[in-house]
Amino acid sequence: MNNARQVAYRCLQRIDHDGAYANLLLQSELGRSKLSERDRGFVTELVYGTTRMRRGCDALIDRFLAKEPQPSLRTLLRLGAYQLHFAGVAAHAAVGETVELAPKAARGFVNAILRRVGDTPMEWPNDAVRMSYPDWIHDRLRDELGDEAEAAMMRMNEPAPVSVRDDGYRQDLASQWVAAAVEAAPGERILDLCAAPGGKATAMASDGAYVVAADLQMHRAKLIRGVPVVVGDAVAPPFPPSSFDKVLIDAPCSGLGALRRRADARWRITERDIGELAVLQRGIIEAAAPLVRPGGSLVYSVCTLTAEESIEHPIPAGFEPIVESPAPEWQPYAHGWRVLPHDHDTDGMVLIRYRRTT
Ligand SMILES: C[S@@+](CC[C@H](N)C(=O)[O-])C[C@H]1O[C@@H](n2cnc3c(N)ncnc32)[C@H](O)[C@@H]1O
Repeated sequence: MNNARQVAYRCLQRIDHDGAYANLLLQSELGRSKLSERDRGFVTELVYGTTRMRRGCDALIDRFLAKEPQPSLRTLLRLGAYQLHFAGVAAHAAVGETVELAPKAARGFVNAILRRVGDTPMEWPNDAVRMSYPDWIHDRLRDELGDEAEAAMMRMNEPAPVSVRDDGYRQDLASQWVAAAVEAAPGERILDLCAAPGGKATAMASDGAYVVAADLQMHRAKLIRGVPVVVGDAVAPPFPPSSFDKVLIDAPCSGLGALRRRADARWRITERDIGELAVLQRGIIEAAAPLVRPGGSLVYSVCTLTAEESIEHPIPAGFEPIVESPAPEWQPYAHGWRVLPHDHDTDGMVLIRYRRTT
């Protein structure tokens, strides 16, 4: 197993100190390594788990540190604390094998700290530290979700289950429900304005609709398979008015409902981003609305749970919200719908469906 810990430690150093993206880095490290399936699973759990629980691990360690250790040792202590407190690794292995990764001169220090971390019951100063979220995300989700916030945050500390569609495409169930909520019918013209990597576009095409996919970014647009693709800005989409039966906006968002999918996301995103994304989302809704033919529908979705990025957007002129429930999984949320991560073990999402009336 210690090869696995070594790989995990190397990844964590780059994530903690070089700003590497956890999922991209892990993919490339595992691609190059000769580890067994079992060890790959262990590396994945250590890297994602230690990254998600970074704040909790720091609190466990900081009780015993008189001064800040070298950055690489901070990372190693986090890895040890994660195994001891969150991964259920036996204490002798968690401490012993982690100490071996330290340079010789630091082994006594790492051993002493980790033993104390393992032996000393923790009193958490507050819920944000215990669940390992930045204060602002914790407070925001508390405000948005009330009594449901803790269950949502705890669920987003666990790995996402893999769900695979009939056609072999891997896609979270809630994303599948969003695509289904468009109710694409054979022969309909559908525009997916923020389509990459194409999960929802291909789902709608398999329902027999004629789907056009668009995305701002060329490198992401190239990932879309099986439907015509346009590279373009959804704020100024290059299509004539009333040219589609249905338009889907699966908008760029803060991703606060899908934090379990990207272990480092909670440490990257800032509260300011939410306001900026909300402005972009409004611009996309305003630009997309005229592309829907009268009687057609506009579907808006985000994998976040903030009202600012969903139900606080103005209803576009000439549209009204569709009041019928899209499916039993969705809970009413103002004039839209939402699923929380712990409702059905999916990403958390908000969905709003509008019909063009004029
Ligand atoms: C939530 S993801 C879409 C996921 C996709 N619908 C799927 O199911 O696979 C949001 C996408 O919006 C794109 N995007 C961001 N800003 C955009 C803009 N101004 N115009 C069009 N697309 C944009 C991003 O490149 C990203 O691919």
